[in-house]
Amino acid sequence: MGQNATVEVLVTPSGRRLAMEDDIRSGLTSNPKSIPPVWFYDEVGSRLFDEITRLPEYYLTRAERAILAERSAEIVDQAGADTLVEIGSGTSEKTRLLLDAMAASGNLRAVTLLDISEEVLREAASELGERYDVEVHAVVGDFRSHLTKLPAAGRQLWAFLGSTIGNFTPPERGLLFTEFRNAMRPEDRLLIGADLDKDPARLLAAYDDAQGVTAAFNLNVLSVLNHALNANFDPSRFEHKAVWNTEERWIEMRLRSLEAHRVEVSALDLVVDLEEGEELLTEISAKFDRRLLPGELAAAGLTASGSWTDPDGDFLLTLAR
Ligand code: AVJ
Repeated sequence: MGQNATVEVLVTPSGRRLAMEDDIRSGLTSNPKSIPPVWFYDEVGSRLFDEITRLPEYYLTRAERAILAERSAEIVDQAGADTLVEIGSGTSEKTRLLLDAMAASGNLRAVTLLDISEEVLREAASELGERYDVEVHAVVGDFRSHLTKLPAAGRQLWAFLGSTIGNFTPPERGLLFTEFRNAMRPEDRLLIGADLDKDPARLLAAYDDAQGVTAAFNLNVLSVLNHALNANFDPSRFEHKAVWNTEERWIEMRLRSLEAHRVEVSALDLVVDLEEGEELLTEISAKFDRRLLPGELAAAGLTASGSWTDPDGDFLLTLAR
C-alpha cells in the first residue's frame, strides 16, 4: 500500500454474504431465474473482466479511453473539482487520464475509490497513491447502498465510468441517479460513461468474443456461488449466451443449461431444478440513445451540462450537476 492510501471496509464479510444470500435466493427462485452481475467480481472475475477490456471485440473501454485522452482537460475544467470520487472503480486505469488533467491544472487534492472487489481496489489505490501526491481513500463497498458513506470533503467530481450504468433497467437507473443526486452536494459534478446503441452484430461480438473470455467470465459466477454458498453448480453443464433484446435495447448475458439437472445451494438450503435449455439471466447491458440520457438525468434532479463521444460515435461521456 502506498503511503498516501487508506482503506475503509464498509462491506464486512458477513454483510457481503447476507447481501449475496438475499440476491441469490430471490434470483434463483424467480422465473426466469437470474443472478445479479455484482457477483461476477471475485478476484478471478475481476481479472477476467480486465482481460475483456483488452479484447478486439470489446470496443467500449478503448472508446471511453479515447474520449478521456482527448477531452479530460475540458471535462475537468468544466467540472471545476479538486477531488475525484470514482464509483465502481475497478482497476482505475482510465481514471488516470482525469487525474492527470486535474493535476496538470493544479486542482487535485484527494481521490476516493469505491469498489466491491477488495483485492483489485487495494492495488488500484496503492498505484494511484504512488503516482499522485494526494490522499487516496479506498472504500470497499457496494454503490447500491454506500454512496452516502463516502467522505464529503472537497469539490467533487464523481466518475461513474465504463457503462456500469448499463447493468440497470430504466427504473433501476432512475433510482440510482436519484441516489447520486441525494448523496452529492450542489457544487459536485457527475461524469457518466454510457455505451451507445449501435449495430447489433457489433454488440453481440463484444459480448461473445472469439477467444471465449466473456464465456469464462459469465461461467465464473457459478464458481463464485459454489465457493461462497457451498453450491454444486457444474459449469460444464452450462453454455454462455449473449442475446440482443431489440425492444429493451440491451444485451442479455445468459447461462443456458445443456441438460435437465438439479443444483443444490447448501448455504441457502435451496434446491434448484433446471430444465434442458433453461436460461439463467446473469447480466443486462443497456445501450443508450444520446438524446434520451439528459431527460433521464433531469427526472432525478440532475442537469446534463456537457457530453462527449469518440470519433466513431460508439461511447458517450456526460457531465451533470
Ligand atoms: C462492466 C457492466 C460495463 O456490461 O459491458 C463485459 C460487463 N459483461 N462483458 C458490460 C461485461 C460482459 C460490462 N460492465
